[in-house]
Amino acid sequence: EDIGVVAVGFSGGQGKAGVDAAPSALIESGLLTQLRDELNYKLHGDDKVNAYNDLVPKDDPPFRNMKNPGTVSAVTQRLSEQVYSHAKEGRMVLTLGGDHSIAIGTIAGSAKAIRERLGREIAVIWVDAHADINTPETSDSGNIHGMPVAFVSGLAKEEKPEYFGWLKPEHMLNVSKLVYIGLRDVDAGEKRILRENGIRAFSMFDIDRYGIGRVVEMALAHIGNDTPIHLSFDVDALDPMWAPSTGTPVRGGLTLREGDFICESVHLTGNLVAVDLVEVNPSLAADREAEAAETIRAGCSLVRCALGESLL
Ligand code: ARG
Ligand code: MN
Ligand code: MN
Ligand code: MN
Repeated sequence: EDIGVVAVGFSGGQGKAGVDAAPSALIESGLLTQLRDELNYKLHGDDKVNAYNDLVPKDDPPFRNMKNPGTVSAVTQRLSEQVYSHAKEGRMVLTLGGDHSIAIGTIAGSAKAIRERLGREIAVIWVDAHADINTPETSDSGNIHGMPVAFVSGLAKEEKPEYFGWLKPEHMLNVSKLVYIGLRDVDAGEKRILRENGIRAFSMFDIDRYGIGRVVEMALAHIGNDTPIHLSFDVDALDPMWAPSTGTPVRGGLTLREGDFICESVHLTGNLVAVDLVEVNPSLAADREAEAAETIRAGCSLVRCALGESLL
């Protein structure tokens, strides 16, 4: 089986340096070698990490409260083309981030490719402590990693072509095909957006109430059988006990086993077309070396589970 790998060393969707170092840390810890040698995937594309420095404008002032809007727009556009070119060939696409703003590019790329190749709309399973569905107007932080779902679903409208004007209808995600798992830090404006658009979301409360098995079952039922699935996994969905090295940690999260279970279940559907792993930041942690290693190890585990490693 063929996998397209895109390594995205990008941190411009938020303010903390270091998340751009995640892809090389994941790769150096042996992730791609394992996929190749132990899981027998044929890998295409990057062993080298994309920095996209050529796309960073000299001057990138805030717009509608967004920070680095020109940079994030240009990088996600390029990324969408990279993801598209793999997905168009029928490859599963694995994107190693980077902060979560990059999902604008990955989802846009897979949505377009799957429309062309299969005539289908993709579904997105967004595993995260956060909903990342702020519009520029509802965001308190101005960080675009808190807005990707709003842009890629058309809930946030482009007002200047250079800021996400490249997003066309073929790139868009239908919010009826979106489902969240793991939410526990959702801003007031985001709660309103979720409610008003009837978006299906399973919070940590639901996981405590029903258990992860039932929650994943319900999430997959919502998407429907035989729908191509894009899994966007923010490592901060995991409890900081398992993934301490991340920019916006929130206590009370998933165990590593629950995270792995979600990935395994999605793999088992046979409908997985793309996986993002984002927000690993090896430079953030109180005890840097040990905690960064734990977080990288957790990230590798999630990816391997999504690709079927732990199933018998
Ligand atoms: N809701 C907050 C914001 O909009 C936090 C977003 C965190 N997002 C993430 N991808 N870690 O700024
Ligand atoms: Mn998050
Ligand atoms: Mn918050
Ligand atoms: Mn996120």
